[in-house]
Amino acid sequence: MAAFVPPNERPERSPHLPFGDCREAPFYGKDIISVSQFNREDLEYIFGVAREMRAMVERVGTFDLLKGKILANLFYEPSTRTSSSFFSAMERLGGSVIPINEVTYSSVAKGESLPDTIRTLECYADVIVLRHPEVGSAALAAEYARKPIINGGDGIGEHPTQALLDLFTIKEELGEVDGLTVTMLGDLKYGRTVHSLARLLSLFTVRLNYISPDILRMPPELIEKLEAKGVSQKEYSTLEPVLAETDVLYVTRVQKERFENLDEYEKVKGAYVITPETLEQTKDKMIVMHPLPRVGEISLEIDADPRAAYFRQMEYGLYVRMALLAMVLGKA
Ligand code: NCD
Repeated sequence: MAAFVPPNERPERSPHLPFGDCREAPFYGKDIISVSQFNREDLEYIFGVAREMRAMVERVGTFDLLKGKILANLFYEPSTRTSSSFFSAMERLGGSVIPINEVTYSSVAKGESLPDTIRTLECYADVIVLRHPEVGSAALAAEYARKPIINGGDGIGEHPTQALLDLFTIKEELGEVDGLTVTMLGDLKYGRTVHSLARLLSLFTVRLNYISPDILRMPPELIEKLEAKGVSQKEYSTLEPVLAETDVLYVTRVQKERFENLDEYEKVKGAYVITPETLEQTKDKMIVMHPLPRVGEISLEIDADPRAAYFRQMEYGLYVRMALLAMVLGKA
């Protein structure tokens, strides 16, 4: 029989760990709510697992690492890539998925609260991916849940798994992150992907350029936060001054659904379009990224340019999400 250890002398463990479980996997049982949870060492670890996932998918397609595990994919907002890449990630790892999309056919349409829906789904699933229109919803869900919650986008707040796959894309495509100039373009006010990516990039020595219409500028609180960490940031209203120095051009869509006044949207929706002429002024070794969907910001003519990385970016997303699922379920 094991010696008795008084409760106050037992090692601290995640509230999600089942009683008696002592697995040491670094993210086992953890929620993924914000990119501020991660340091550079964590990122190396996640990307290492993602590379292993890629090798396995290329070799065998599907394997049984998460056999018997269930993911609840709870989406209160539309999604193509985030929901289907998590779905595919779980299936490729041998697990299964309860898909709940746009919640029109679930009890949420009857007025059920988020905590109650979460408490319900965690009876049936081992991990929950949540996309919700309110900032802070994933953190709220995590307060109630015993199972890991993965934030798949909380309104205009954060989209941490997108930022992880964005950073993984940059690393795989360009090698190093330190020393790069990253130019973010489009809707920097409502775009949650740029909010998370800028925060994550602040762990590196990068130069950030923000280009947007005046009414869609990067939130000043976020700029101040990164300023305090010593990140070099500059705001512009046109792309031309920074094109030649840019290593990563991160383009975003104007987030129509976040506008209270659609006349305002109409004024800014076509503010920037990346065309072959734009790319003539850039380095040969640079990449164009976009979280997608695009609605006219990138002309179709540049899809065939090797610098257009946005389709490859989606594929990197599969491996990163496979890694995250395996990690929070204690298998990596
Ligand atoms: C993004 C999102 O939902 O924030 N899409 C995605 O997850 N790939 C970007 C967007 O909708 O513009």
